[in-house]
Amino acid sequence: MNAAIRAVVRTAIHEDVKISGVIRGYKGLMSGDIHELSARSVDNIMQRGGTMLYSARCPAFLEPEGRARAAEQLRERGVEGLVVIGGDGSFQGAHLLSEEHGVKVIGIPGTIDNDIYGTDVTIGFNTAMNIALDAIDRLRDTADSHDRLFLVEVMGRHAGHIALNVGLAGGAEEILLPEHDYDIEEMVKSIAAGRERGRSSSIIVVAEGAAKGGALAIEKRIEAASGYEVRTSILGHIQRGGAPSTRDRVLASRLGYHAVQALLAGKSDVMVGVDKRGTVLVPLQETWQRQKEIEWQLYEINKILAG
Ligand code: F6P
Repeated sequence: MNAAIRAVVRTAIHEDVKISGVIRGYKGLMSGDIHELSARSVDNIMQRGGTMLYSARCPAFLEPEGRARAAEQLRERGVEGLVVIGGDGSFQGAHLLSEEHGVKVIGIPGTIDNDIYGTDVTIGFNTAMNIALDAIDRLRDTADSHDRLFLVEVMGRHAGHIALNVGLAGGAEEILLPEHDYDIEEMVKSIAAGRERGRSSSIIVVAEGAAKGGALAIEKRIEAASGYEVRTSILGHIQRGGAPSTRDRVLASRLGYHAVQALLAGKSDVMVGVDKRGTVLVPLQETWQRQKEIEWQLYEINKILAG
């Protein structure tokens, strides 16, 4: 997100537009925690995870009064456009602010889950996958030498994009997703068959939303069904920190630049995304009303490659 903030700030200044940062998202927008930024205020932030502007959940912004307060803060300062970095909750707020108060808004997709319709990738997805994959590679060493079955829980409460990709890239025997049913008995049979074929280690990648209780609940069920010694690693918020990958920095820089250009071209109520056509503008409402499919083909390929 810092790379996106840097890109928005520097592009605006390049275009002779004044630019301010809002501290803690909609919370700061409502209370007027808004500060002018210079090109220098975004020096040396690109390599840092998180966001220099901080972030907060803000239930008050879900109410019309909260949005009216925010619009008033913007009016008082003569702000003509707002760039919002976030996921569907942030975009719904931005859309309502634009609809109810005529504020020009542009969304930039920022979530490690990659579950936003209208863009092939979101900021943070690549970095989170790299962290998860590194963890899987490390766990493979113990899984292999100790002949153990490992469950690795990765983030994704509602979407399995991370699990699917790192499962395939990490050579997982099974990938459990919120979007797909699974049968523990069948899974145990297939693991047993793999062992008979000489497999020494098994890793199952579990998206946190694949089961109520996450990977720990699945661990219990597998142990009960198989008698195997199972170990579970929950990667959790580790996936959301640290230096962003090259890909994420490039994506964020590109989206930040285009967000400002879109505002200057008079666009509003849209998200800047990327797909095979390049940079695209997508109506904000579509980003949460339509569902982004996971790449089912990868799931099928993994079944074959897991051999
Ligand atoms: O950004 C989305 C996400 O990463 C989900 O995959 C995960 O369930 C959630 O954030 C965790 O967020 P919180 O910090 O609120 O627990």
